[in-house]
This record gives sequence, structure tokens and C-alpha cells, in this order.
Amino acid sequence: MLDRINEILKQVEAFSITSKEELEQFRLKYIAKKGIITLLFEEFKSLPPEEKRQLGQPLNQLKEVAVNKLKAKTTELEAAATTPLQKPIDLTLPVVPHELGTIHPLTQVWEQIVEIFSRIGFNLEEGPEIETDWNNFTALNFPENHPAREMQDTFFIEGKEILLRTHTSNVQIRLMNRRKPPIRSIMPGRVYRNETISARAHCIFHQVEGLYVDRNVSFLDLKQTLYHFAKELFGKETRVRFRPSYFPFTEPSAEIDISCGLNQPTGCQLCGGSKNICKGTGWVEIGGAGMVHPNVLANCHIDPETYTGFAFGMGIERIAMLKYHIRDLRLFTENDVRFLRQF
Ligand code: PHE
Repeated sequence: MLDRINEILKQVEAFSITSKEELEQFRLKYIAKKGIITLLFEEFKSLPPEEKRQLGQPLNQLKEVAVNKLKAKTTELEAAATTPLQKPIDLTLPVVPHELGTIHPLTQVWEQIVEIFSRIGFNLEEGPEIETDWNNFTALNFPENHPAREMQDTFFIEGKEILLRTHTSNVQIRLMNRRKPPIRSIMPGRVYRNETISARAHCIFHQVEGLYVDRNVSFLDLKQTLYHFAKELFGKETRVRFRPSYFPFTEPSAEIDISCGLNQPTGCQLCGGSKNICKGTGWVEIGGAGMVHPNVLANCHIDPETYTGFAFGMGIERIAMLKYHIRDLRLFTENDVRFLRQF
């Protein structure tokens, strides 16, 4: 039997294992329940004590060698499976171009607006997109039956109390509840309206709200602030026009138009003279504005006898379209790289 043990030891040592399959063959042949070494141990049990004493040690050694080999090869093969083959590096290959992304045009305009206003003392504020009826409508002096509260404009979430904000004016309310005048803030953000998506309308868009509340704030301050803003963003020659309008939360209220240059010495700066943006009038609308309604101040526990304020709200898409001559609102959300690469 000693000869057989030595013979098997040689076989075990010589057995070549280079794959998982061979590893398994090895295990079955020698170590498994019916493997050669296991059977030798069975045989060993029935030997006379004399031989047992002689063969115990070589037999145990054989088993140890086989088991150690199995363990070592198992870890070796596992490691090889997880480390990729080392390919030689070809230094003459051209490099993979590393493309840098660009900042989305809406983000660029958003940041420019915030910067222009921050230079004249407006700080940045933000508010939630999911809002209560109170902050989005009621506190802003919307009458109970105002059409903007109707289902076609507003996405309601829970009953009629929780909704997606339809404008950034909700942040005015939150701000005035939290802080007392002087307040001079700019509030950009995303807003939602239940509109059919087209080149001119979208159910998701962005606005930037401005609010200035202090003693003796007048309509003149509003005009000067927006003149300054328009010249900074669109160029020195740009003019601003206010048309009388109505918002429940401002009195008096106005629509803000900027000149496109059509009737000015500069010539049209926005549509290249094709008049398809201003319809030949030389003016395009960018938002609404007005003096904060006394009821709104009172709703936020600010004394309307002591303080006055102005507010404005402008469409960021609108401004980006004018600045970059973009014709279709849908381009902003389609993620088409051919569009985005241009900025
Ligand atoms: N919230 C108004 C709108 O969405 C815009 C606005 C803001 C008007 C502030 C006046 C003052 O149309």
C-alpha cells in the first residue's frame, strides 16, 4: 500500500490544473466522497494495527498535499477571473477625444440674472415647488373665484389645498413671513401650469421673481431697477416699456416689454428684422410687475401704512429665447445635444 500511496502522491503533484473544469476533475478524482484518497482511508480502517502505524503518516500527508493543492488552485483561478488580461499599450493610437459639456442655456440666463441683481443688492431666495393654496393664491390676494385657480391652469396634488406652484410669487409670501423689511431679493425657480405643450407654451417653465419692500419704495424704483436690468442683460440700447395690466397681488400692475431695436437706430437685435417675435411693434413682453398690494403685505404681517414695495416676475425661457434667438420652447427640455452644443 505504501507504494500505491507514493504513486498517487506523484500523480497528485503532477496533475495540471489550468481551468475550473480541471479543478473539478481533480477534486472528484482524489478528494470527493468516492475519490481515490477517500477510498484509501476506507481501506486503511481495516488494516492490522502494525500496518496502520506504518501507513498513517504517509496517508495523511498525501491528503494534505491534495487538499492544499485544491485550495491554492481555487484562489489562483478566482484571482485570474477578476484581473483583466494585460494588453500591451499602443502609444501611437490617437487619443479618445474628451468632450466637455456646456451649461444649459436656461442655467446660463438664470445665473446672469442672479448676478445682475446681486450687484445692485438683491440677495438670492428659493422656495418649494409643491405649495399650499395659501402661499400660491390666497395670501397673494387672489379672489375666491379667480380663474387662475381653476383646474385648467393649476396642477392640484391633494384636493384643492396642495398644488404645484403656478408662479414664483409664493416665495414672496414665504419670505415676507420669515423676514421683515428691508427685503430686497431675487427668487428664480421652476413653475408648473396645466398647458398643452407647443412652441410657445409648456407645462413646466421657469420664472424669476423680484421683491423690494422698505419705507418709501416707489414705482420709480421699480422702473429704474428694470431699466438697469434690461440694459445689463440685453445691451445698452435696450429700452423698457410698462403697459397697464392686472395682477391680484400688485396695484398698480404692469406688463413689462423690452425693445427689440426694430424702431431704433441699432435695428432689430432679436429676430434679425424678420419681425416674427415683435410682430412689427418693436416691443416684446418679458413679464409682469407692480407695487405690492397692501392686502399682501398685511397677510404677511407687514404694516402697509409704514412699508411699500415692488415686485416683478419674468419668464426665464422667454428671456433666453430673446437673448439666443430660440424659436421653440420645447428645445429647452428635449436634451438634443445638437441644440445644447450651441451654448
Ligand atoms: N406671478 C406673475 C405671473 O406669473 C408675475 C408677476 C410677479 C406679476 C410679480 C407682478 C409681480 O404671471
